[in-house]
Amino acid sequence: MTTLNLKKQPGASAVARLTAAPSIVGNESPSQPPAAPPPLTGRSMTPWLAVAMAVIIFAGALFGYDQGVISGALDGIKKSFVLSPLLVEVVTSWVTLGAMFGALAGGELADRFGRRNAILFSGVLFVVGAAVQALAPVTAVLVCGRLIVGAAVGLISVAAPLYGAELAPRTLRGRIVSGYQFAITIGIFAAYLVNDWLSAGGSWRLMLGSSAVPGLLLLLVAVAAPESPRWLMKMLRRPEAKVQMQKIRPKVDPEDALDMIDKALREETESAAWSEILQSKWRRPLLIGIGLAVFQQITGINAIIYYANQIFASAGFALSSQATLTTWAIGGVNVAATVIALVFVDRWGRRKLLLSGLIGMGVSLAVLGVAFRFIVAAAPGTAATAPSIAGIITLCGLITFIISFAASLGPVTWTVITEIFPGRIRGRAVSVCTAFNWLSAYVVSQGFLSMVDAAGSSLTFGLFALFCLISWIWIFFRVPETKGRSLEDIQQTWETS
Ligand code: BGC
Repeated sequence: MTTLNLKKQPGASAVARLTAAPSIVGNESPSQPPAAPPPLTGRSMTPWLAVAMAVIIFAGALFGYDQGVISGALDGIKKSFVLSPLLVEVVTSWVTLGAMFGALAGGELADRFGRRNAILFSGVLFVVGAAVQALAPVTAVLVCGRLIVGAAVGLISVAAPLYGAELAPRTLRGRIVSGYQFAITIGIFAAYLVNDWLSAGGSWRLMLGSSAVPGLLLLLVAVAAPESPRWLMKMLRRPEAKVQMQKIRPKVDPEDALDMIDKALREETESAAWSEILQSKWRRPLLIGIGLAVFQQITGINAIIYYANQIFASAGFALSSQATLTTWAIGGVNVAATVIALVFVDRWGRRKLLLSGLIGMGVSLAVLGVAFRFIVAAAPGTAATAPSIAGIITLCGLITFIISFAASLGPVTWTVITEIFPGRIRGRAVSVCTAFNWLSAYVVSQGFLSMVDAAGSSLTFGLFALFCLISWIWIFFRVPETKGRSLEDIQQTWETS
């Protein structure tokens, strides 16, 4: 058995840190049968919805870019400032700190000031944070910039999927929220490319500062974008909600659509208190949201993404050209496989994708676990010299894992989290689930290296595989199908079950 020769990839953990029953499946209201989604160019995709979609794409891309870029920037930062190991940790991990607070505040801001305004605010934070980092004269200022960007990432990770889920017609909701995940993967991939491109010159200021450009674009698009009619109705602003509804869905009778929303919101004259989230009637959706958020992380995605280089090196792909190629392969496959979810999430449904993706993830992790028992341990501080059969199996296992995650747990987690809560508690509940997602990302990235040291890589991958099995069983029994159902219809599920 061998243990991965894992040197902590600069900033890697920080990035990661940043980071029922099935009866409901057949329980769709007969008046609203789940329809196969029309093509995006079809009747449902209106120009205003496309503007909203652009907001979601920029939001996801910024989330992904700011996650991915620090790993390339850290070496240059260390040359400019004298950083103790503790300060290196702070420069990297305080982004997660910011993200957790940003996510917790995100629901409150999105409920109080609107989904679109929350996105606008995070756009401002992205631009300010990028500028503060790029111009930082001393470490303390750089750390402030990291905190600001972290808050922006946390806030947008609540506000953008929420906005997408509320604006989307029900037959396109899965696709639109998965579009957000698609953008996250593009952002991560773009960060890998920028890191490669700029790292030779050590231009860390440019790497961190360049996210101001998509930040500004996000601001421009969000200023023009429509506000969520559901939120406007919640704030008792029906005339404005009608205007927005007519923009987004010109073919639908706005009065009918607003009446439906109104029916669901009728008893809600003000925002729910935080304590309402914990009431027993919402326990089930809350547990589903938190469960998905946690399972998305503890099945190992960020450990794989950020330590892929080291994993590949241990498996014999140690040349720098091989490292670049494998990193690009992981990033590229992550983007490409998300398209599977985009195409099928509203056709096959959330459960099918989740359950089949988890099988792929679990099997590939188990294969990785076994392969690592056969990889000959390299001398400490070095990597294996050439890929063995076990090394090649490792490569295939990692790629299969990424494909399976990108087509299932990656996008579907965000889709389900944003559609299961009633309007009254949606913002805050999504906040709580998202904060759990960041917390789990932090725990996994911290625990991964210690676990590899203590138990070996074989057992570590085995543990991730076990979590896949547990989450498969839990999803099978606890997570209902929500495809094609209106948010109001899903809400009734909890009230009547
Ligand atoms: C997760 C991130 C992860 C990314 C990978 C997202 O859904 O929340 O933690 O890094 O997917 O594509």
